Amino acid sequence: MRTTRVARIDDDLAVIGQGTWHMGERPERRVREADALRLGVELGMNVIDTAEYYAAGRAELVVADAIADIRARVFLVDKIFPHHPGLEATRRAARAALRRTGAGYFDLLLIHWPTPLFRAHLMALSMLYVEGVARYIGVSNFDRLWMVRAAPGLPADTPMVANQLPYSLSDRRIELDFLAELQQLGVLLLAYSPLGRGALLRGRRAAVLSELGRELGVAPSQVALAWTVRHRGVVAIPKAVDPAHVRENAAAGDLVLTVEQLARLDRAFPAPVKPYEPDLPPWTPLYRWAYQWEAQRMARAYGRAR
Ligand SMILES: NC(=O)c1ccc[n+]([C@@H]2O[C@H](COP(=O)([O-])OP(=O)(O)OC[C@H]3O[C@@H](n4cnc5c(N)ncnc54)[C@H](OP(=O)(O)O)[C@@H]3O)[C@@H](O)[C@H]2O)c1
Repeated sequence: MRTTRVARIDDDLAVIGQGTWHMGERPERRVREADALRLGVELGMNVIDTAEYYAAGRAELVVADAIADIRARVFLVDKIFPHHPGLEATRRAARAALRRTGAGYFDLLLIHWPTPLFRAHLMALSMLYVEGVARYIGVSNFDRLWMVRAAPGLPADTPMVANQLPYSLSDRRIELDFLAELQQLGVLLLAYSPLGRGALLRGRRAAVLSELGRELGVAPSQVALAWTVRHRGVVAIPKAVDPAHVRENAAAGDLVLTVEQLARLDRAFPAPVKPYEPDLPPWTPLYRWAYQWEAQRMARAYGRAR
């Protein structure tokens, strides 16, 4: 399994990690899900991503089962949902999430979405870092403008080291104005939905992945994952419960595509025309209004129409 590093994180991170969205939703599946995560760690996928939002905290319980006796081998990422009304509530939520995982500390703690309350949320993360709850902190679904605003105001030594964003052959939006900058800043990109939630393998362009996979003697999913992690500082976090999928994903961490193969994929999955903007989570109308108001204000301030 290849590993990658970014300037401000001390750990070697496997380029393929593991997601947990939809885990914990069905009690009868919990053992199978935890076993899948353990198998993944065994095969070298040391980054596990979860969130308090997933199955209302029950995905974190699956993670707890999976990592209880292998905690030190895992780089655990958790995300706090930004509906907590302010700094104290966010700190309490993070501590509750930590208890559910039984992990003792988070390796990386993220705010799940940008909101008008982002300053309070980030300050809470900064305090959680100082308190030893999280070794590193970061954001998720922050587009370029939100990220530009995230750092000022935080203590200079706060290790804001990561952004978790959608990135796959079927969603290349961050390439337009953002990916290169993240790399320059040494910010870790955690590429979520790297298989397009599975749809990438069934979509109209899946034939290209199959064809290339046949030539290389690998699965189409492995071609897609190898493409996603072709740059330094990128970790893809596919979610897989099926053990065959877990094995395939882990093996994709050793696959390096040639310039010619990457170019074939570039042609088949053309670059986007619109930059990334976070989708709005399903909040109340008032929250959506406040979010849009803040986003527009920000766009005016930074001179880019949204
Ligand atoms: N920050 C955010 O807002 C955000 C949003 C979305 C996702 N995420 C994170 O990113 C993770 C991954 O994204 P995702 O769950 O949306 O989608 P994904 O990883 O792109 O796709 C998951 C689907 O692909 C299937 N799959 C996995 N490996 C496969 C393989 N080798 N061959 C064929 N099918 C395979 C899985 O099936 P089985 O499970 O049956 O194996 C599952 O149905 C999430 O679990 C979550 O941790 C974060």
